[in-house]
Amino acid sequence: MSQDQKFFDLYSLVIGVLVVVSVGIFVLAMNMSENTQGVYTREAPEYQQAIQERIAPVGKVYMPGDDVSAAVTVIAAADEPEPVAEVQSGPQVYNSACLACHGGGIGGAPVLGDTAAWTARLEQGMETLVDHAINGFTGDAGYMPPKGGRVDLSDEEVTAAVEYMVAESQ
Ligand code: HEC
Repeated sequence: MSQDQKFFDLYSLVIGVLVVVSVGIFVLAMNMSENTQGVYTREAPEYQQAIQERIAPVGKVYMPGDDVSAAVTVIAAADEPEPVAEVQSGPQVYNSACLACHGGGIGGAPVLGDTAAWTARLEQGMETLVDHAINGFTGDAGYMPPKGGRVDLSDEEVTAAVEYMVAESQ
């Protein structure tokens, strides 16, 4: 046997073995892919849908008439809080708005508890006192600003304050 013939035989054998091995690997790979990735063959609807989701455009344009309910973010409105500032009582109003002058007789204001001063004023009648407290009043003693300068107070609150001051001064 010539040297060439020997080489050729060996070469064919190696090639043959390699072909057998590759065919084996191919069959094995086919088998494995069927067992492990059966769902994800290209034709499977799940696979197609997954692709569609991945390549879907980021935004969509809704035309008039389209159902947009899925795209609208629903923000729940918070419950209306209970209003904190309810009507202030007479003493509360007095302390916050009237005490400054009527506590110490500032500017000639009749002092709370000064029975003589208040009895004289009460002779005008309660309505006049309330009217002067709400709308302001300039008398002999000085200037009483409307609502004591606190125009944010309601008429009812000022009235309650007058009633409180009168009651405390008798
Ligand atoms: C800036 C000072 C000042 C504040 C604040 C003030 N008063 Fe007077 N008030 C006076 C003065 C001064 C008089 C006396 C006016 C006079 O008789 O010349 C007076 C008089 C009154 C009188 C008697 C009015 C009359 O006809 O005799 C009432 C009632 C009264 N104030 C209620 C209130 C009430 C209620 C508040 C608070 C909401 C208040 N005042 C806040 C200065 C004040």
